Amino acid sequence: MLLRIPQLLSEQDLRRVREAIDSAAWVDGNVTSGHQSALAKHNQQLPEEAATARQIGELILDRLSGCPLFVSAALPLKVYPPLFNRYAGGEMFGIHVDNAIRAKAGSDFRIRSDLSATVFLSEPEDYEGGELVIEDTYGAHSVKLAAGDMVLYPASSLHHVTPVTRGVRVASFFWIQSMVRDVGDRRMLFELDESVQTLTAEKGGRNPTVIALTGLYHNLLRKWSDL
Ligand code: NI
Repeated sequence: MLLRIPQLLSEQDLRRVREAIDSAAWVDGNVTSGHQSALAKHNQQLPEEAATARQIGELILDRLSGCPLFVSAALPLKVYPPLFNRYAGGEMFGIHVDNAIRAKAGSDFRIRSDLSATVFLSEPEDYEGGELVIEDTYGAHSVKLAAGDMVLYPASSLHHVTPVTRGVRVASFFWIQSMVRDVGDRRMLFELDESVQTLTAEKGGRNPTVIALTGLYHNLLRKWSDL
C-alpha cells in the first residue's frame, strides 16, 4: 500500500526546516548505505549525528505522533530518527530495496524496517526530475508531492529516485517498525479503522454496530500485534 499523507508539516514547520537545512553541512550520501545501495546512490546527506538533523528530525517525529492517518496506517512501534538527503545536478538513486534491519551507530537502537517514508521538503516546481518511483504488484508508481507531504510505502518495495536535472530536491526519509509485521494484516486493520471512523461520523460513537466493529478492530490488533 502506497499512502500519501498530506501536510504532515505546516508552512511554519517548513520554514523552520529550510532555515536549518540551508545552513547545514552536507556530506556524500553513501554514509548510510548498505553495499548494494552504495553502488546505486548518488546524492548528499546530513550527517546523522549533526545537531541540525537531530532537531528537525525531532520536529518530524512530533508531527508523526500527532497525525492520526499515519498512526492508523503504520501502527508504529519504533521510528528511525529521520534522515535528510539532497539531490542536484543530475544526482539520482538507482533501483534498490532498503535494508531490512537498521541499527543506529553508537546506540542499541535497532529496528526492522517494515515501512519506508519520504517527506518532501522542496516544492515540486522548484526542481525537474527527482520522482520517487515505487514498484508494487500493480506496477510502478511515480511520486512527487508538495513540500510538507509524506508518502508511506512497504519497505520491501523496489524503488528509485530519477535524476534531478534542474534545481534542488531536499527530502527527509526514514523507516518504521510496525506493531503489525504483515503488510496484508496491517492493511486490513487500516481499512477497518477507516470504515469505523466513517460509520462513527454517521451514526455516533454509541451506535451498537460502531461499538461492535470497534471491538473487532481492537481484538484483531490484539491478535496480530507484537510489542
Ligand atoms: Ni531506499
